[in-house]
Amino acid sequence: MGPGGIVCQVAHRAHACKQSWPDETMMASQEEKPSAMKRFWEERSTEKQQTLPGISRVLDPGDKVGFKNRYLDVFSKYYVLKHLKRSNGSVVLEIGCGTGRLTEYIADHFAKVIGCDLSDNFIAECNASAVKKPNTVYLRAADHDAIRLHKPEVALICWVVQHLEQDEDVSALFRTLREYGVKRFVLLEHNRIVDHIEEVKGAFYTKVRSISTYQNCLLRAGCTIDEVCPLGEVNAGSLYRLSMSIYGRLPKRAHVLAPLAFHIDRLLIDGPRRDRNTLISSKYTTDMLISGRLD
Ligand SMILES: C[S@@+](CC[C@H](N)C(=O)[O-])C[C@H]1O[C@@H](n2cnc3c(N)ncnc32)[C@H](O)[C@@H]1O
Repeated sequence: MGPGGIVCQVAHRAHACKQSWPDETMMASQEEKPSAMKRFWEERSTEKQQTLPGISRVLDPGDKVGFKNRYLDVFSKYYVLKHLKRSNGSVVLEIGCGTGRLTEYIADHFAKVIGCDLSDNFIAECNASAVKKPNTVYLRAADHDAIRLHKPEVALICWVVQHLEQDEDVSALFRTLREYGVKRFVLLEHNRIVDHIEEVKGAFYTKVRSISTYQNCLLRAGCTIDEVCPLGEVNAGSLYRLSMSIYGRLPKRAHVLAPLAFHIDRLLIDGPRRDRNTLISSKYTTDMLISGRLD
């Protein structure tokens, strides 16, 4: 999710190394030197919590008030569940589950939810969590055979693909999902009009892609795209923007109002007379959700 205060440098740069999604995770499983991205997330997973329990490590680590992270939490849960429910699957695989906040949230609606992640720390934490539900399973992303054994039907990916630098790695991830037997997917990511790379401490952190870049990656992997939804509440929502403009003065307890603020923003943006696509051309970063099929 948004890097908040930790992005030191923003730059467009040449891509030096070629890495596929499965190769990176397999590398870690073979006890070889972990990738820079894996080291980054292992470090992040052990960071002290700034605000709401658990989520600032996977959302905005710089959010001291907690309102923004609570808003992002409700925003992503609302759209992910809405689209997953249309998928007709009973076994969901979440790629890049982090703290398991979405895995546990959707578990009430499906027979089984498998969360996998690049970070061994996050997986250990999720397995030991007091709020873990009986129908959730957490595995390392490198454990391809174990993941396949659970026969996942639907894949959920939220704010993870942005951490794959090469577009070919995005296509490789979806090809791997097909090998697992996954038939449908729900992908929620940031988007921008033009592809944009962000670095942290001089190293690649995210590539925020345009909708058309995502569509091309998915089509190259042989996916069928059913729906593309631009999501504009974050940054473009009236209450979100108002709260950001007075953020320094918000009391910590203000985060309890974030769910209400999100749903009011959603209704204002999503109303029958609004054209959601106008948000895409706004100067503010928005998100997008793509759902589709892998068969
Ligand atoms: C921004 S966090 C989002 C976590 C979770 N999806 C959520 O929305 O709460 C990104 C997560 O992706 C994981 N990740 C990054 N690259 C990955 C990869 N190649 N395979 C699996 N997980 C990865 C990170 O370890 C981290 O937990």
